Amino acid sequence: MEIVVSGIRPTGNLHLGNYFGALSNFLKMQQTHHCFFFIADYHSLTTHPTPSDLHGNVKQVLVEYLAAGIDPEKATLYIQSDLPETAELYLLLNMNAYMGELERVTTFKEKARKQAENVNAGLLTYPSLMAADIIIHKAHKVPVGKDQEQHLELTRTFARRFNRMYNHEFFPEPTAFNFGAELIKIPGLDGSGKMGKSEGEGNAIFLADDPKIIRKKVMRAVTDAGPTTPNQPMTEAVAILFSLMRTMSKPETVDHFLNEYNACTIRYGDLKKQLAEDIVNFTAPIRERIHELAADEKYLSKVATMGAEKAHESAGKTISEVREIIGFRKF
Ligand code: TRP
Repeated sequence: MEIVVSGIRPTGNLHLGNYFGALSNFLKMQQTHHCFFFIADYHSLTTHPTPSDLHGNVKQVLVEYLAAGIDPEKATLYIQSDLPETAELYLLLNMNAYMGELERVTTFKEKARKQAENVNAGLLTYPSLMAADIIIHKAHKVPVGKDQEQHLELTRTFARRFNRMYNHEFFPEPTAFNFGAELIKIPGLDGSGKMGKSEGEGNAIFLADDPKIIRKKVMRAVTDAGPTTPNQPMTEAVAILFSLMRTMSKPETVDHFLNEYNACTIRYGDLKKQLAEDIVNFTAPIRERIHELAADEKYLSKVATMGAEKAHESAGKTISEVREIIGFRKF
């Protein structure tokens, strides 16, 4: 079975865009692949050296991924810092990673500009840590977005270099896994396109949002003055509401409002009320699970321990073979 690895940055709550993006990929892949999903808490120190609540952020991500349907029995779900083998492989990869290739990485250059007062070595070697995450399990596939392609390219370089330097066909060269066209893109509510937390306030609907908040956000979404001629083309803002409705509501509901739009009888307030209720209903079971899980420290501890054990089994084997290949011997 093909091995899949993906890291999750512990940054804030999941929104509907995340749910229909990366997360829906994970949910499918855990059925068909041998999956390792981990929360990248080491990586977070490259940008947040003293995070105010490292544990709290990690817990939140753990809770939300579980609530959304990651099955810790099927997939291996673990915390990056629970797997010291990753740190060891990172050290070894760094011995054969060159300043020049690391300095050329776009994300490094961007972050170095953004945090000029803290251009730390972890930032520069972010790609070697990410490569270690991936090849510690000898992964074949990595489900990541376009912004991670360059990191993955370097992962392949490091894997190939290791194999060549030690004359051993040891690490597979992992490739990006992209569901591409199958992915549903969720637009934001401010009419600007993408749903994201860095966009304006109210642009994103979070899985953990209360029904009251969801209703407020939807009711405030941008619209226009309304159609005045039959079958008039939609403005971007209205098209966005329909596009959200297509993912959240029944086809009959979408048709009903489309007909009203085309007949110029639509009242956006009614559409928004319906859309808000459908989003509330869709997210309700996830939100309930989030609250349950957040209060269940015992279960979370069990999941994290089990994840670390399963990850350790895979990583421990790799690292002892790597030590052997490089030439470390016990006296
Ligand atoms: N760099 C990834 C991101 O910013 C997170 C990550 C860390 C990752 N290690 C990984 C993703 C290994 C895939 C595989 O989203």
